[in-house]
Amino acid sequence: MPLPRLGAILALVIGTAACAPTADGPDPAVLAAVAARAPADHQEGKESYAIYCATCHGENGGGSESGPPLIHRVYRPAHHADAAFLIAVKNGVRAHHWRFGNMPPVPGVDVAATGRIVAYVRWLQVENGIE
Ligand code: HEC
Repeated sequence: MPLPRLGAILALVIGTAACAPTADGPDPAVLAAVAARAPADHQEGKESYAIYCATCHGENGGGSESGPPLIHRVYRPAHHADAAFLIAVKNGVRAHHWRFGNMPPVPGVDVAATGRIVAYVRWLQVENGIE
């Protein structure tokens, strides 16, 4: 195998290890309690999240059998900036952090709606100690 290719594979392996989740999703009861006190300005984002994202990312961001928790250190802003959400919703995501498979694009969620979902998810993250 030529060296550059080996380097690329090593970088991928090391990168994946650095990102690999060390724990399962957060406590669902805690998440639900936090989500229940979402302020009024996040209600729209919360509703869109429930319609378009919750089937895979869990009712309150805690993950499901079809997708990872977004309330997780892996998705803190420093690791997945807001732009990653826009790209994920528009183009889908090739599985790389987990073993749930690919995320398909989510039709019907425009940039503004995605922005409101991100704002809500960021709020949930902060309230759950993820910054
Ligand atoms: C059909 C299931 C499904 C739906 C619906 C879904 N996702 Fe995902 N999403 C996934 C899976 C699976 C992954 C993890 C891919 C991986 O292994 O990294 C993911 C990853 C992501 C990521 C990380 C992207 C990256 O760059 O690594 C973001 C952000 C995200 N989803 C946001 C959303 C939002 C916002 C919605 C709702 C508008 C949504 N997802 C709906 C399955 C889904």
